[in-house]
Amino acid sequence: MGVSKENKLQPILREPFTAEEEQLFRALDPRTLPRHVAIIMDGNGRWAKSRGFAERIFGHRAGIDSVREVTRTAAALRLSALTLYAFSKENWVRPRAEVEALMALLDRFLVDEIPELMENNVKLVASGELDDLPESTRRRLADTAERTANNSGLVLNLALSYGARSEIVRAVRRAIEMAKAGEINGEELTPETFAQLLDHPELGDPDLLIRTSGEMRLSNFLLWQAAYTEFVIVQKLWPDFRRPDFFRALLEFQSRDRRFGGVR
Ligand code: FPP
Repeated sequence: MGVSKENKLQPILREPFTAEEEQLFRALDPRTLPRHVAIIMDGNGRWAKSRGFAERIFGHRAGIDSVREVTRTAAALRLSALTLYAFSKENWVRPRAEVEALMALLDRFLVDEIPELMENNVKLVASGELDDLPESTRRRLADTAERTANNSGLVLNLALSYGARSEIVRAVRRAIEMAKAGEINGEELTPETFAQLLDHPELGDPDLLIRTSGEMRLSNFLLWQAAYTEFVIVQKLWPDFRRPDFFRALLEFQSRDRRFGGVR
């Protein structure tokens, strides 16, 4: 059983597993993996500081390697969606140099990662107030989304200029517009129909939310969608988060008893 699992995953991941990864992977139950994983990638600034870098951007840059490794692993495990909190509505108040460097990093990511996304059959989408982004970033985002649109594996959803309260308010505005146009009435607005008005409802609610750097906050992320999400808090800083940490978070998820308010 372990051998056949290994044979399926290893050629996709290319690099051989370490003994630790092998052991963690074998412990995973492929039948109860989460469909949708969301991650708050926290701790880049602290990582940069701990390495003696004056600029926080070194941490963000190092965080790209974690993004690549986790995305590749999620795709190989055949998860259906991975939502990454890459830039929040609130992040715009950071020093201008950091915001500009983050946007430049995102621009480069959107171009450089296309071969990687294609090779791993990953479709890229984005959530949030994308109109806030610089024109060049919006163009690259649209281009990468279009190039990967026919990929049928993992959906990588980048939350950009994202805030859950804003997302909910946008959905309420849409509901009001629809009501004015006679497309929906008050009784038809239910949690299920309302959820369809949020960004990318087709991804479904996240089953698992991982936050790195030990912080225990939702930070305006997926407030609606996380109603029954399992939270796993990881002490490591995001740039140090690697495949074994991802496997451990998945194992922790598999140890949880999800009852959705019911009883067993
Ligand atoms: C939080 O760490 C992280 C961010 C605000 C940005 C996350 C961005 C990346 C990992 C790189 C860009 C991602 C993509 C997908 C292109 P922090 O800076 O708040 O860390 P701190 O709490 O230690 O200060």
